[in-house]
Amino acid sequence: MKIDVFTLFPEAFEWFEGQRHVRNALGAGLELAYVNYRDTTPLTGGQVDDTPFGGGAGMVLRVDVVDAALQERYRLDPETLRHRRRVLVMTPGGRQLDDGFVDELVAEPALTVLCGRYEGFDERIVEHYASDAVSIGPYVLAGGELAAMVVCDAVIRKLPGSLGHAESAWEESFSAALDGAPEYPHYTRPADFRGWRVPEVLLSGHHARIKEWRLAQSRARAERGSGGNR
Ligand code: 6GU
Repeated sequence: MKIDVFTLFPEAFEWFEGQRHVRNALGAGLELAYVNYRDTTPLTGGQVDDTPFGGGAGMVLRVDVVDAALQERYRLDPETLRHRRRVLVMTPGGRQLDDGFVDELVAEPALTVLCGRYEGFDERIVEHYASDAVSIGPYVLAGGELAAMVVCDAVIRKLPGSLGHAESAWEESFSAALDGAPEYPHYTRPADFRGWRVPEVLLSGHHARIKEWRLAQSRARAERGSGGNR
């Protein structure tokens, strides 16, 4: 798979790129590239954004700036790009990411991820260049970079060679068995800490009973929802 991330802050992805599962995927054929809008801006002084027409706070990423970056990268009319590869615009009002959406993206041979900044994008970028507007949840982040990393992480961990063999086999049986339900609880040593005992069944060595217990826990979590303790 090829992923191109367009951003004003490529250095923000350095930590992400060092993650073991990302490095594994890179070794197994993933091509991950960053494009800085600033490098190809047609405006003077490295300008990439502008004040919104009609007034209001903040700055908006300009459509001509994004156009120039896409043209330089792909050597075609950016309007046609979305017919050749998925072009994601990261914006809080977009389609919310979930596991099904991630699976859709994993099936693509190539992704383009556009990050905005400040108040976001000129709407013509979304309208004419994007195949999808993507959000990672109903809250607002100061920029698209963290959201883009979330999307990349969720996609990349599903690529072959990203997680180890054992982990991916486990993951597969786990998602099939749990039917989209949240994960069951995990415990490790010590078996007793401050009197908080690990559930006895997990220490029993009865694999069938353990599997049954985990399934029940997962279903119970799905019903009650998981979250707060206050
Ligand atoms: Cl994609 N961008 C921003 N700025 N905030 C978000 C988001 C994206 N998804 C959720 N909140």
